[in-house]
Amino acid sequence: MQDQLEQIRTEALAEIQEVETLETLEQLRIKYFGRKGLFTDVMKGMGKLSKEQKPVIGKLSNEIRLEITNKFDQVIEKFNQHKHEHKLAEETIDITLPGRRRQIGRRHPITQVLDQIQMIFKGMGFEVVEGPEIELEFYNFDALNTPKDHPARDLQDTFYIDEGIVLRTHTSPVQIRVMKKTAPPIRIIVPGKVYRRDYDITHLPMFNQVEGLLVDHHVTFSELKGVLYSFARQMFGDTIQVRFRPHFFPFTEPSAEVDISCLFCDSKGCRVCSHTGWLEILGSGLVDPNVFEHVNYDPENVTGFAFGMGVDRIAMLKFGITDLRLMFENDMRFAKQF
Ligand code: PHE
Repeated sequence: MQDQLEQIRTEALAEIQEVETLETLEQLRIKYFGRKGLFTDVMKGMGKLSKEQKPVIGKLSNEIRLEITNKFDQVIEKFNQHKHEHKLAEETIDITLPGRRRQIGRRHPITQVLDQIQMIFKGMGFEVVEGPEIELEFYNFDALNTPKDHPARDLQDTFYIDEGIVLRTHTSPVQIRVMKKTAPPIRIIVPGKVYRRDYDITHLPMFNQVEGLLVDHHVTFSELKGVLYSFARQMFGDTIQVRFRPHFFPFTEPSAEVDISCLFCDSKGCRVCSHTGWLEILGSGLVDPNVFEHVNYDPENVTGFAFGMGVDRIAMLKFGITDLRLMFENDMRFAKQF
């Protein structure tokens, strides 16, 4: 029995030495220590031993079992160590590689200009209000003193949705909505999208306006001028020239279009300003008494001014963009420049 045990010791240790995978190691464990294993088998003979032999063989078998199981453990340890090193080697990263930059979004030039316009008017005490893009023809035209035969109502300009319902052609109908539910004083600006049947390099069927309305007692044209001068200087810089040019709008009287000195040629005359030295940026005027009557204000008692500007046009001028359509193509190469 002693010889058998010694033989198992030699063979097992040698075999374990050769093992290359955890699976074959497990097979070896079964081969020696399983229920029908070689070591187990030999130990079954213990019962037949004499009293003197038993402790001797017992001691030896314990020693051998321990030695072999220690060897198993060592090999497992070695495997694990190896696995870890292997993993580390595989996961090697090259820290000298340049990082990958994330694309950071940017605010659209029109949004930038819109925000700036709002900041400027908020600074002068105006409140920001919005209104619907689908509007009653009545608010878009009639209540703004635009009679049925006015050319602005022509099918060429206006998108009709249904009988009496249009896509608003300007932000002015919000004047009516606000005055109908608020008593003066009123001091609001109204940013929003408007729609007209138009399409070329400076006109699109959808564009952005900001409306302004101030109503109180004794509001004068010079206050309108003061507010718009201040706006133009904050928007385009202190050296900008502003001029008021008489004009006609059905809902203001008197009315004026407002020009600024050309940003591109210093008023010398260039293609952008059509060689006039001036750029038109908005329409304005004192609120027509007929409009006040539509919202049940007493024209004898209140006065006010209104203005409306094209945001897209201002953005084009400010950033020197010559084709409005670029603004809506969502090309990152375009957006990145502003
Ligand atoms: N609503 C006018 C337009 O779209 C602009 C405007 C607004 C003019 C308010 C006068 C007063 O052209």
